[in-house]
Amino acid sequence: MSPPEIRRVGVVGLGAMGAGIAQLAIEAGYETVGREVTDELGTQARDRIAHFLQRKVDKGTLSASDRESALASLLLTTELGDFAGCELVIEAIVEDLDAKLELFAALEGIVRADAILATNTSALSVTEIAAAVSTPERVVGMHFFNPAPLMPLVEIVRAELSSDEAVEAAFAVGERLGKRPIRCHDTPGFVVNRVLIPLLNDCIRVLDEARVSPDELDTAMTAGAGWPMGPCTLVDLVGIDVHVHASEALYEKLREPRIAPPARIVAMKNAGLLGRKSGRGFYTYD
Ligand code: 3HC
Repeated sequence: MSPPEIRRVGVVGLGAMGAGIAQLAIEAGYETVGREVTDELGTQARDRIAHFLQRKVDKGTLSASDRESALASLLLTTELGDFAGCELVIEAIVEDLDAKLELFAALEGIVRADAILATNTSALSVTEIAAAVSTPERVVGMHFFNPAPLMPLVEIVRAELSSDEAVEAAFAVGERLGKRPIRCHDTPGFVVNRVLIPLLNDCIRVLDEARVSPDELDTAMTAGAGWPMGPCTLVDLVGIDVHVHASEALYEKLREPRIAPPARIVAMKNAGLLGRKSGRGFYTYD
């Protein structure tokens, strides 16, 4: 079945990634339905998007009227039923396979028969998520990078049973969102996380091996390897919990010792030091 023309995009979960994806969708002119579990969380996401769009207005890269019309095209909801009119729904909820399976099964009963269902999963298998629905050919991965509005890449992930049409439609949406999409297969970590997760874990091990501070390590990798931000700053941005979870999920599949999360960062997660979002990680934030 050919995918329909995509006019209305749904985003499930408006945390840092989902809000960023919804921002991209409204800026690209899509009618966008954003779903959170409470009105309060939805409003927080809209405020965050409104803030970043205002910064663009302040800097002269977006007109005030375009900001207003973009914000007006975002419909917030707590009801999955509001995705009924969406030709594409992008899932950006918690990285928990059971939660995603339940969501995809529910979405299948709501969206039109030819709508595309995409997951923004970082480290779970798109094929396993697609197994929740009776029409897995319409399921693909659309993996964005944090912060989604700024990072140019989106990985368009082909699962075992994804149709060519669904992959190409998701690729075209990635382009319309202003991204540089690449197509890849559903292997653990896809392309970037397969390389980046073990590398970041090596960086964290070096903290103890070389007895350097997070600040010194960040200086080493920005000033010595040309990284745009140091590894400790980056893991704080992504979220210590998100990074540990992704490391564990990939380690479970690939069994390479470098991919397992170092004890130091697991202890941070257990202590509630989650990075920027909790106010404390490798660094402290206001
Ligand atoms: N959402 C929307 N807009 C944002 C934003 C966000 N989260 N954060 C910043 N902005 C906007 C702000 O308005 C900001 O301008 P302002 O400070 O004047 O308000 C504007 O973007 C520019 O921000 P910066 O000045 O901070 O931009 P930089 O030039 O310093 O670049 C960066 C920032 C692009 C994040 C750069 O540091 C970078 O490339 N870092 C590496 C990030 C990276 O590697 N991400 C991948 C992580 S791995 C991942 O996501 C995979 C997942 O599966 C875990």
